[in-house]
Amino acid sequence: MNVTRGFLAPESAASILRAPTPPAWVEDALAHLPELLLDHANCEKKAASTALALMFAYPEDQALAAALSRLAREELRHFEQVTRALAALEVPYVRQRTGRYAQRLRTAVATADPMRKVDLLLTGALIEARSAERFALLAPRLRPPLARLYADLAGAEARHYTLYLGFARAAAPQEWATRLAALALHEAQLATEPDGTLRFHSGPLRARPS
Ligand SMILES: [Fe+2]
Ligand SMILES: [Fe+2]
Repeated sequence: MNVTRGFLAPESAASILRAPTPPAWVEDALAHLPELLLDHANCEKKAASTALALMFAYPEDQALAAALSRLAREELRHFEQVTRALAALEVPYVRQRTGRYAQRLRTAVATADPMRKVDLLLTGALIEARSAERFALLAPRLRPPLARLYADLAGAEARHYTLYLGFARAAAPQEWATRLAALALHEAQLATEPDGTLRFHSGPLRARPS
C-alpha cells in the first residue's frame, strides 16, 4: 500500500503535508505582520537549536552531523535576515508566548530509539515543509524587500525538508512512511484548526465574539 497516496501534489515543496494552510491563516498573518515577524525570527533561532540538539543526540551519525551543522548556520543567517527586516520596519522587540505547534507536535514523537530518531527527523521535515509552504503563500502578498526574503526562504526551507526526509528514509527504510502518515496527520490538525494565538505555524485565529 502506498501510504503517501493522498498527500498533496508531489511536485509541491510541501508534498508531505496532509492539509494545505487555510486561506484564513494567510489573511490573519498579514493583519498581524509585526507579531508574525517576531515569531518568525524565533522560529529561525529554534530551527538552528533543533539541528544542534540532533547533532548532540546522535553524534555517531557523522553524515547527519555534517548536514545539520551547515543547516544550523543557514538558519542563523535566516535569523539575522529577519532581525534586519524587523529593524527596517521599526518593529519593537516584544517577548511572545510560544505557540502550541512545536510543543504539541513533539508529543507524538516516540520516546525511545531507534524510532525516536526517525520521528525527530520526520518532525523536522514536516516543520520545514510547512514553513516552505507558508513562505510561498505570503511572498506574493508582501512588499519588497520582505517579498524577496520570503520567496528566498521558501526555497531554502524546501531544501531543508528534503534533507530531513532523506535522513529519515535512510534511517528506517521500512517504517518511515507509516510514521510520516501518523505525524503528518497530527501536524495538519495543528496547522489548520482554529488557534487562540497567531504564530508562524499556528492555525487561523479563532473568531472572537463581537
Ligand atoms: Fe530557516
Ligand atoms: Fe529550515
